[in-house]
Formats: sequence, C-alpha cells, structure tokens
Amino acid sequence: MKIIQVKDYDALSERACSFLVERINELENPVLGLATGSTPEGLYKQIIKKYNQGKVSFQQVKTFNLDEYVGIERTDPNSYYYFMKDKLFDHIDISLDNVQIPNGIAPDLRQECEEYEEAIQAAGEIDIQVLGIGANGHIGFNEPRTSFTSRTQVADLEASTIEANSRFFHSIEEVPTQAISMGIETIMESKEILLLISGENKAEALATLLTCDVTEEVPASVLKKHSNVTIIADEAACSVM
Ligand code: GLP
Repeated sequence: MKIIQVKDYDALSERACSFLVERINELENPVLGLATGSTPEGLYKQIIKKYNQGKVSFQQVKTFNLDEYVGIERTDPNSYYYFMKDKLFDHIDISLDNVQIPNGIAPDLRQECEEYEEAIQAAGEIDIQVLGIGANGHIGFNEPRTSFTSRTQVADLEASTIEANSRFFHSIEEVPTQAISMGIETIMESKEILLLISGENKAEALATLLTCDVTEEVPASVLKKHSNVTIIADEAACSVM
C-alpha cells in the first residue's frame, strides 16, 4: 500500500481529485467504484470544479457505488442515491443510465444483490474504487468479521456504525440497521483502490490498519493483499502513526 500524506482535508480532496481525473482521462471507458460519507464530499466538489473547467468529462464513465441503506427511498435525502445525485451526478455530464447504486427498497433484496454483482461483472472490472474507512475499520458497510470472500450482500450494521451515521438523521432510531454493500471480495477485484482517510477520529483506524495482521476483525486490512492500493491521509488522520 502506498501512502500519500497531505496537510489537511482540502489538500486530500484536491489530491484525490487529480488522482481520479488522471485515471478517467487515460482510460477509454472508465468504470469507477464510488463511496459516500463525509470523506469523499470534498473530492466530489473538486471533480465538479474540474468538470466546469472542461478538464474532465463523464460521458464514457460508468459508476458503481459501494453501498445503500435498506428501507430508504431514493428520494430521501439520507439515501446514498440522493447523496450521489446531490453531491456529484447532478453537476456533471454523466448519464444516469451509467450509474449503478444498489436499490435498498427492492422487493427481493437477495435478488438485488445478485443483480448488482452481475452488473459489475458485465461492465468488466472496476478500474478504480474509491473507499473511505469506518472508525471500526469497515469498508463499504462490511463490518468487522465479514468474510473476505463476501460478495454483494445485505449487511447488518454495528451499533457503533449506526451511532456514527446518526449525525445525518433526526434521531438514532431512524438510522437503518441494514444496508446492501458490495462484498469484500467484490471490492478486492477492483484493479486499483484509492482509500481516503481524514480527521483525528480516523487516526486509530489508520494506525490499526497499518500495524495489524490481515484479519477479518479489521475489514480494511484485506487491502494489504491488493497489489495496487493508494491511501491518501491528512495529518490529523496520521496523528497516532
Ligand atoms: C459509512 C459508509 C462507508 C464510509 C464510512 C466512513 O458508513 N458506508 O462507505 O467510508 O462509513 O464515513 P465518513 O467518511 O463519513 O467518515
């Protein structure tokens, strides 16, 4: 894993943007894996800026998001579908036909997961997958002890994740307890991975990731087995290294 340390969140967002835009511009039909959460918001803002400057186009880009809450309508501002439209897709020239986000209100969730996997396979491999990390080391919504051989599935959220994500909801009771998440094996099949880590509250997670063995107790530790991972972390995230 290659680590790029930058000063702060703005520098992280800019660096991640240059990294991604470079890949998009060099690939003929880029397939991107995208993430939600607070961490990539700055990256998406930077991408919109680059798009407005005419430095990148998404006409040939396909995207797959990592995850989506179960039971939340796409029109709900807390859905990851809404987040992606609001923070990125509505501001660039991507066709929504080329955008895939698991449907958390599908009548048959297991079938939805299978179809999501099939769609990824049909698009070929994901060229570059953007990841954030949970304070407990989760990637996507793959919580500690999720099998490294998992594929897209319905995941149960840990109490700590529900609490961390409750900041976006009116009350903790409103936070879904389940989500559809790309599996760990699905994520590992991406050709390249870009992991973004920002802030003091992620410092433990980064330190653990760097020092622990590869173990299902720390989902992100699986990334040590991938041959092409870049971590961009800010100084606050590196504070316990
Ligand atoms: C969420 C998402 C993850 C994200 C992580 C960190 O639960 N499922 O994909 O990386 O938690 O989020 P944040 O960037 O808001 O800290």
